[in-house]
Amino acid sequence: MTLNEIIEARDRAFQEAEAATDAAALEAVRVRYLGRKGQLPQIMACLRELPPEQRGEAGRLANEFKQGLVERLDNRKPQDTTAAAASGFDYTLPGTGCKPGTVHPVSRVIADVIRIFGRLGFTVADGPDIETRYHNFEALNTPAHHPSLDAKDTFWLDGGGLLRTQTSPVQIRVMERQSPPVRIITPGRCYRRDTTDATHSANFHQVEGLYVDRRVSLADLKGTLACFMREMMGPSVAVRFRPHFFPFTEPSVECDFSCHLCGGSGCRVCKHSGWIEIAGAGMVDPRVFRKVGYDPEVFSGYAFGMGVERIAMIQYGIEDIRMLYENDVRFLEQFR
Ligand code: DAH
Repeated sequence: MTLNEIIEARDRAFQEAEAATDAAALEAVRVRYLGRKGQLPQIMACLRELPPEQRGEAGRLANEFKQGLVERLDNRKPQDTTAAAASGFDYTLPGTGCKPGTVHPVSRVIADVIRIFGRLGFTVADGPDIETRYHNFEALNTPAHHPSLDAKDTFWLDGGGLLRTQTSPVQIRVMERQSPPVRIITPGRCYRRDTTDATHSANFHQVEGLYVDRRVSLADLKGTLACFMREMMGPSVAVRFRPHFFPFTEPSVECDFSCHLCGGSGCRVCKHSGWIEIAGAGMVDPRVFRKVGYDPEVFSGYAFGMGVERIAMIQYGIEDIRMLYENDVRFLEQFR
């Protein structure tokens, strides 16, 4: 190994570094000269064998070789000619985090309800958000003078249509196209001219249920709702019925379940009554059956309707219905 040979190797390496056109070529140069089995380590190893008067100069040359090559390779890096570099893309920047989304509590309750009733043999039916006066009111035995038809309660559309105020019209639509037995639930959006506050929203969701067959009784309704509530709220909850009135059911009931938090002894959530109201329900009125051409002497059935937001609020301890619509990620993120 002579001084000239070191100089030649150095010049060759510098030239190759300048000539390399992409990252792979640069890396090849680095390995060839600076790598563990590269030329520079070999030169370093030979220094000891040189005559003492040349050692100093050779050492200086070798160091200059190494530093110069490292510098040249470094300088070439930003001039990387790959497509990514040409586009100005900096692949050394850390990536932007991508947070997984969460299922909205309203969607989550609807999915749970579909799953639970699905196991009891109910299928999902759907109906339009824009309804006719006939399906939303008349066929449901709701007379024209009923207060719910008032323009201050219902969004009427030009031409006489309306935004459905309940999911009950889907009962009519299903019975119009299908003969018994019928066993459906229908989740969906409803609209009422309510002033928004902590418990009201002009736009909300209901799940409707309908079961029609021979010899269906109120006891079937109670058993089904009790089974549903136990699945939804926990195995120890009980249900009770209170007499009520709905135009489309006779008899009509309101359904409560025993408070899942205090077990019935009374707490803030159940307003110290031990019970929480969850659904309106009843036995389908014979007049409704006649509207859809079912014979009320042969068939009987029950129906129920419940508010999805209300269930979500009870289940997750949400105190203000508006939180479900503000899309504040700090709120939504909690529903993992
Ligand atoms: N549609 C009723 C409401 O919006 C709820 C309801 C009550 C539905 C009784 C039913 C029922 O199917 O049988 O308040």
